[in-house]
Amino acid sequence: MSESPRDLIKETVGESEAWSMVAKDYNDMIHAFSAFHDYAISTAHVNDNDVVLDLACGSGGLTRMLHSKVRKVYSYDFSIGMIHIINSYIASEQAANIFPTVGDGENLIYKDRFFDKVFGMFGLMFFPDRIRGLLETVRVLKPGGTLILGVWCPVKELEMVNLLFRALNSVLPQIEIPEHVSSMDSEEVIRGELTGVGLKDIDIEKKTFNTMFHSLEDMFDSFINGAPPFVVIKNGMQSGEWKSVRDQCLAFIYGELETEDNVNLPMACLYVKGQKPEDNF
Ligand SMILES: C[S@@+](CC[C@H](N)C(=O)[O-])C[C@H]1O[C@@H](n2cnc3c(N)ncnc32)[C@H](O)[C@@H]1O
Repeated sequence: MSESPRDLIKETVGESEAWSMVAKDYNDMIHAFSAFHDYAISTAHVNDNDVVLDLACGSGGLTRMLHSKVRKVYSYDFSIGMIHIINSYIASEQAANIFPTVGDGENLIYKDRFFDKVFGMFGLMFFPDRIRGLLETVRVLKPGGTLILGVWCPVKELEMVNLLFRALNSVLPQIEIPEHVSSMDSEEVIRGELTGVGLKDIDIEKKTFNTMFHSLEDMFDSFINGAPPFVVIKNGMQSGEWKSVRDQCLAFIYGELETEDNVNLPMACLYVKGQKPEDNF
């Protein structure tokens, strides 16, 4: 097991297998993030004629909220486990306007100038070569089309993630508390990268919403099992050892929150919008 959480984040979030391993648990907690997806849709001003890409779509939290509001949603992720969950949703809901594909976001399969809007919620920020991912989004956007990204703020502004890391660190001091979940969490970096790939009218808005869980245990187990870096920490231990760590972490978190039910912790994210110029490309 790697000892540094910053390494763990980097090591795991760029691996499709790591995301497939957590896909079911990720999907089980996706409801806790619905406010983030809801706001992305409202700030994008979608219309029922839009053809949109949900890039690094995960298990489809955004896709599911979006598809009834637009003409077509193409859902794209390099994790087979995540796309499998979207396929199950399509079958059960007969959602005929969702088109899922397994693929690397740095090499999109779509033709040039295909989408009215591209959403990249909490996914593109993890690409090993973000600029390549951004260039691909620009290529597939129609002139005048809009890119909408969701990017997590630094860890000190992500109360849930910060608390989980602090709890783990209190029990396992070798687990350091990272400052960032990605290096894309400042306005300066974002503006530089988006203007660098030719997008204009860059708009960055910070919003904070609560993640909502029924109980402290629900929050702890959901996030530990649904996020690749935490799963790696857990899987690096014997079950008895993990049980003891879990009990101590829960006691730490209870000591901080003084509640066991309805745990609502704020997480801050940057909503980023950029437009592909009408007359380029
Ligand atoms: C934190 S999840 C976000 C999922 C979803 N967008 C959401 O808002 O719930 C990150 C997702 O990015 C995907 N991902 C990471 N790197 C990728 C890449 N290079 N190409 C395609 N998908 C990628 C992962 O498989 C995972 O499903």
